[in-house]
Amino acid sequence: MCGIVGYVGNKEIKDILIDGLTELEYRGYDSAGIATLQENNIRHFKSIGKLVNLQDKLKNYSSDGFVVGIGHTRWATHGKPTELNAHPHLGEYSYVVHNGIIENYQEIKKSLEQKGVNFVSQTDTEVIVHLFEDFYKDNNDEFKAFEKTLNALKGAFAVLLISKIDNQKIFFAKHGSPLIVGDDENGEIYFGSSDSAMIGKAKEVIYLEDGEYGYASLDGIKLFKKSKSKKLHKKTLTQDKIYAQKDGFRFFMEKEIYEQSEVVNDSMMGRVLDEQIDFEELDKNFFKGINEIQICACGTSYHSALASSYLFERLAKMQTSVEIASEFRYKQPLMKKNRLFVVISQSGETADTLETLKMAKKAGMKTLAICNVDNSSIVRTADKTILLRAGIEKGVASTKAFATQMMVLWMLSLYIAKLKNSLKRKKMVKELQSIREIPSILKITDKLHEKIKRLSKRYLHGHGFFFIGRDIFFPLALEGALKLKEISYLHAEGYPAGEMKHGPIALADSELFTIALMPKSLLYEKTKSNVEELSARDSTILAVSPEEFELADDFIKTNHSAHPMGEFFEMMIVVQLLSLEIAIRMGNDVDMPRNLAKSVTVE
Ligand code: F6R
Repeated sequence: MCGIVGYVGNKEIKDILIDGLTELEYRGYDSAGIATLQENNIRHFKSIGKLVNLQDKLKNYSSDGFVVGIGHTRWATHGKPTELNAHPHLGEYSYVVHNGIIENYQEIKKSLEQKGVNFVSQTDTEVIVHLFEDFYKDNNDEFKAFEKTLNALKGAFAVLLISKIDNQKIFFAKHGSPLIVGDDENGEIYFGSSDSAMIGKAKEVIYLEDGEYGYASLDGIKLFKKSKSKKLHKKTLTQDKIYAQKDGFRFFMEKEIYEQSEVVNDSMMGRVLDEQIDFEELDKNFFKGINEIQICACGTSYHSALASSYLFERLAKMQTSVEIASEFRYKQPLMKKNRLFVVISQSGETADTLETLKMAKKAGMKTLAICNVDNSSIVRTADKTILLRAGIEKGVASTKAFATQMMVLWMLSLYIAKLKNSLKRKKMVKELQSIREIPSILKITDKLHEKIKRLSKRYLHGHGFFFIGRDIFFPLALEGALKLKEISYLHAEGYPAGEMKHGPIALADSELFTIALMPKSLLYEKTKSNVEELSARDSTILAVSPEEFELADDFIKTNHSAHPMGEFFEMMIVVQLLSLEIAIRMGNDVDMPRNLAKSVTVE
C-alpha cells in the first residue's frame, strides 16, 4: 500500500522525506518519488524499485534553506510500476501525491483531454493535479481551486499538493485513506500516511478525519471541513516506532485482521460496477476456448481456492478443480488447454505454486495469477495477474491476504459469469449488492472482540479442536484450524461437518472442542444435525451462528445475511480473532510463530 510524506521547513529535505518513506517501507511499494519547491524552482526525482534507487538519484541534490516538499512510495493499482506512473505527478506548475483510488478518474480525464490537457501516466492520480490547475485558471484562487478539485473527486483519497502559485504551503486532504499532519517546537510541518513516518520529527499531530482538508505553512496549519474552518485537534505523538507501525494493536496480525474492511474495499475499487465486474487487467479474448478452471495453491491460499470452487461452479457454471501445489507437481497431471490455470499466492514466491505455474505454461495452458506482490516471480511468470491490493502482510499467519483473495475470487466468478452469460441480470445485480456490503460486515465491533477474548480462556486445554462447516464453510473451517495451529501450537483440524460421522466422531468427548460454523443462509438444518451428533457424544461445542443453538456450550452470535458470503466473511473474522486470543493467552509471539516463514521459497 502506498505511503505519503511531506515537509515544510529549513532542514535538508531529502533527509526528511527519505527517512519518512523508509519508515513506511514495511507497507510495501514498487516505486518511489519526491518533489521539492524552493522559491520558483520546482523539481522531482522518481525511481522504480527500492528507495536506494531514489537516493542514488538524489546524490547531487541538496535543499539548503527553506523548502516545501512531498514524497510517495507507490504500490501499483492503476498502471504498471514505472517511473512515469510513480508519484509525484506533475501539472504545469504543481505536483501531487495521492493514496487511495479516484473512482471517476476516467470521466475527469476525458473532459480535461477535451480541453487539451496532456496526460503522461496511466494513473488515476494525475487527474488531481490537472483538475486543480484547470480550476485555478477560472478564478486565480488556489485554495478555492483545491476545494473544487476535492469536491469533484469520487473514491478514497489522501492527497498532498504543492504548487508554484504559493511556494510556502502544502495543501492536504483526507477522504477514506489515512493522513496525519504535525508540527515540531519550531513550527516546521510534517505529513505522513502513518505516524511511524513522523516519529522523532513532529511533536504534536492531527490524525485527520474523513472530509478534513486545508493547508500548512510555517504560519501554522489551517483545517477545514465542508468549507468551514475547524479547530485543530492535536495530540502528542508517541515516540515508539514499532508501536506506531502497529497502530496501537498488540500484534501486526491483530492490526491486519482489523484492516480487512479497508483492504477488501481497496480490492473492490474500480472493479465493482453497477451491473458487472470489471478487471482492467483481463480481456474477453483471454477466456476464448476456456470452459474449465484448474487452481493450484498452498496453505491459506489453497483454502481460498477451495472456497472459490463452489462459486465458480455455482455462479460461472465452470467446472473447477483445486489442488495443493506440492501434490500437483509430481502426480503427472493431465494439463488440458480448455482449462484456465489459476495460481493463488500472497507472496508470489512460493516455490511449489510457482513450479505448477511453469508446468502449465510449458503445457501451453492460459495462466492467471491472483497475487498480492507485483513483480514477484509468480506475477512475472503468469500470462495475466489480478493483484489483491491487501498491502504488505507482516504477520506470518495470513489474514488480510485471505480476505482479499476471497473477494477477488468471488468477483472473478461473476466476471466469468457475465462473459459466459450464466447468470440472469437480476441475480447478477443482487450478487453485486451483496459484494458492496462486505466492507461494512468486516468492521469489527468491540462487543464481538471482547466476547471472543473472554471465551478464549476456556479453550486452552483439551486434546484438540475440530472446526467444522459445510459448503464454502468447510474451507473456512480448514482455514480456522490452520490459523489456530500456526499461532497457538494446539492441535486443530478442519473437517466437512457431514464427514465427522465417518470416523473423527470417535474422538468426541468433553475434551474435544468443536468450533461449529452454522450459517443461517446455507444448509443450516444439515449442519445443525451434524453438530447435534457431536453434542450427543459430549464434545464441547462453540457454535458460531446467527441462530441461537440450545445444545452449544458457548455461542458467538453473528448477523443474519442474505448472502452466504456475507456470513462467510463475518465468520472468518470470528475464527481469526479466536485463534489470536487463544495464542495470546498461551503467551506466544503471534507475529512470528515458531518454525514458520512468511515466504516459502523452498520445496
Ligand atoms: C498460513 C500461511 C501459509 C501460506 C502458504 C502459501 O497462514 O500464511 O499457509 O498461505 O505458505 O503462501 P503464499 O500465499 O504466499 O503462496
